[in-house]
Amino acid sequence: MKPLNKLTAEEAAQFINDGETIAVSGFTAAGAPKAVPGTIAARAVVEHAAGRPFKINLISGASTGPSLDGALARAKALGFRTPYQSDPDLRKSINAGETQFFDMHLSRLPQDVRYGFLGHLHLALIEASEVTKYGEIVLTSSVGASPTFARLADKVIIELNRYHPPILRGLHDVYEPDDPPQRSDVPVFKPSDRIGQPVIQIDPARILGVVETNLPDETGVFADVSPVTAQIGAHVAEFFAAEINRGLIPKSFLPVQSGVGDTANAVLMAMADHPEIPNFQMYTEVIQDAVIALMRKERVTFASGCSLTVPAPTLESIYADWEFFRPRLLLRPQEITNNPEIIRRIGTISINTAIEVDLSGNVNSTHVLGKHMMNGIGGSADFARAAFLSMFICPSTAKGGKISTIVPMVSHLDSSEHSVCVVVTEQGVADLRGKSPSARAKLIIENCAHPDYRPILRDYVKRGGNGHSVQSLGAVFGMHLSYDETGDMRNVKWANLK
Ligand code: COA
Repeated sequence: MKPLNKLTAEEAAQFINDGETIAVSGFTAAGAPKAVPGTIAARAVVEHAAGRPFKINLISGASTGPSLDGALARAKALGFRTPYQSDPDLRKSINAGETQFFDMHLSRLPQDVRYGFLGHLHLALIEASEVTKYGEIVLTSSVGASPTFARLADKVIIELNRYHPPILRGLHDVYEPDDPPQRSDVPVFKPSDRIGQPVIQIDPARILGVVETNLPDETGVFADVSPVTAQIGAHVAEFFAAEINRGLIPKSFLPVQSGVGDTANAVLMAMADHPEIPNFQMYTEVIQDAVIALMRKERVTFASGCSLTVPAPTLESIYADWEFFRPRLLLRPQEITNNPEIIRRIGTISINTAIEVDLSGNVNSTHVLGKHMMNGIGGSADFARAAFLSMFICPSTAKGGKISTIVPMVSHLDSSEHSVCVVVTEQGVADLRGKSPSARAKLIIENCAHPDYRPILRDYVKRGGNGHSVQSLGAVFGMHLSYDETGDMRNVKWANLK
């Protein structure tokens, strides 16, 4: 068996041509390639300066880091991007119409690639902690969609990142379901079940070469818990404790999924602080900082996820304490972490963050004021639709109170009212289960809307008149229009709208 070819990052970039589709490892900045993308971006700049086109189509597991999405967006090298992103420069490029972005459920990405829905993969660029001449690839801090990318792309380039110690074999559970009509059940019955292999196995002849690196993940640090996020967390924890006492959630609790961002982090901390919530397991997508902190306190006893999205010092501390963490952590492909079949079977409690929520309980997770893409739907709707109990959380206002996150009708729909059980803001909790549209509207206004907006929303409902829904078609976006025109949703004049 021949040893694998060594490449520099610059040499690796020469294998990539204008118009090709590149699939990359990573899920968030965790496990994303960090050396080759910069050299592709540099190549794009040279090509553009010479008057030649150079844009690639980029498919990842989810978002990536600034040296990947950011560098390529700044070099105007991204023609198409899917399925999720969170980089400010890429966001600008998408919202300016320079990069075509396809926002999709993350659970579907690997199978859509297999089905051929996203076209042909020319190259997979995969970060590994170990690669053998037999074609065994041990991933780093995430799995994402790498097993599918590595198996299906014409060729593979490995970024062998020496930053990760050679202890990670066994952290990952690599499993790809068969495609219909052969697909059988995916046999995960509890978060810790292992169903696959510790490595991705491919034909080594497809590996063009290995680029050695030594670079930490570019994961940011969360903001400290604020009074608003602490209050949201306290409401969530009280709600779950009450559900246990009512016998609606088992006393042993159920596996928890929590979304990305500062609010989600604060909620997990509050749940762990509540004496009536027992120790719990996570069946989640992104394993964030709070999960690791709670594991150390033995409040979280196991976490199955798709990535370890933690700042470098936290990751280093995990590696330093590997005997403790190794039996408590498991990383899976996104089509397994976010698999609706498993989420429904194991009864996941799902907590995700909304950008806005409407009076029916519809949720917008992605678009600011209906037009500007923030990050993407991610796994929020994979979980929301299939969960045992699906909750959406958010502060009741944004932009210093000029925007209400509670609006008559969402300006973009990601999770429909049929997938949303409970809404929580710092103002309180609206439990929408079993409620009609008018009862939902009342609960959302009185329990979740900011006091500045309650009279405005009550007036809106009053003018709706008869009908099953409370909506008033000529005025549904009145608050959004008011923000557009005056810079403050509180200036809405319902009387001026039909
Ligand atoms: N109108 C305008 N801007 C709004 C807004 C609204 N209704 N709601 C939030 N924002 C802005 C905030 O002001 C903030 O802007 P800034 O960065 O300029 O300060 C930004 O959106 C982020 O809001 P924040 O309150 O800090 O929330 P967050 O960090 O918890 O992120 C989401 C919230 C919704 C953007 C994020 O959770 C997300 O992308 N979710 C979709 C994917 C997902 O749920 N994944 C998890 C599945 S497993």
